Amino acid sequence: MALTDTRLYPGMGLTTTKAPFIEIARSRGDLYIEQPYELYSEENHEAWRRLYARMQERWQRYATDKFLEGISKLCLDPERVPRLEDVNRFLAPLTGFKARAVSGYVPAYIFFDCLRRREFPTTITVRDINSLDYLPEPDIFHDIAGHVPMHTDKRFADTLVRFGEAAHTAARIVKEIKDPDLQVRRLISIFRALARFFWFTIEFGLMRGKNGEIKVYGSGLLSSYGEIAHAVESPEVQRYPIQLEWVINQYFEIDHYQPLLFIVDSFDHLFDLVDQLERWMLEGKLNNVAPGEPNMSEEDIRSFLEASVD
Ligand SMILES: [Fe+2]
Repeated sequence: MALTDTRLYPGMGLTTTKAPFIEIARSRGDLYIEQPYELYSEENHEAWRRLYARMQERWQRYATDKFLEGISKLCLDPERVPRLEDVNRFLAPLTGFKARAVSGYVPAYIFFDCLRRREFPTTITVRDINSLDYLPEPDIFHDIAGHVPMHTDKRFADTLVRFGEAAHTAARIVKEIKDPDLQVRRLISIFRALARFFWFTIEFGLMRGKNGEIKVYGSGLLSSYGEIAHAVESPEVQRYPIQLEWVINQYFEIDHYQPLLFIVDSFDHLFDLVDQLERWMLEGKLNNVAPGEPNMSEEDIRSFLEASVD
């Protein structure tokens, strides 16, 4: 029997950091996996049910209309962890995007390149029922309830693809640099700019609503019961119209609520910003952005240097 045979793990669940099936897939180097649906425990389904139920009024109140339309188009079951297959049946006809199960962290370039192909690397584990509020790792609630509803919107989906293309341009630019030290230095700077942009938009973005009110489209906020309200209501949060030159030079920390958020006008606006980001990259403006988070792991560096860019 193969080690990934799900019959080996009856009732063990697919809980974040506690799923032997995932550990083994990772140790074998399997990045793309199947979603072994029968492994979800009743506790996993209960965690999903609670997470989904308590977000309802928060989404109605704080989320952008595009998200609310998206979540209804996906027909997610409030009671059970979603099957990716079912999600894709509703999603793919709308924008061509598909959620694809992965065993954990996806090296940066591989992640961005998936977006270019309209694939979204999706975590399949569920957070522990005893820590619904905070976890540093993504889980299926963050990925499917936070990210994927946005992928039903055509302009947002096109923006993700455009972002993947910008990452592809980055890989091409750094591959042409002959001096290995300079190559890595440039790569780290361009990566910082890309990752900061992704963070302050796709993960934590705010948008100006129809009547001037602030709405949420960032997935980190859409999947957090506490932070979605904090992001919109707290007087301590700095909320500013997005400025690309600021975003690419702004470090961030992932272990607390975000004190600084940026507002876009629309997804057309967001799309144009990705165009501008790529133009600045080509002009060399991203070669020396401000130091600080995020740092780039060896694995992330390799993913860019080994990318096929032809
Ligand atoms: Fe995310």
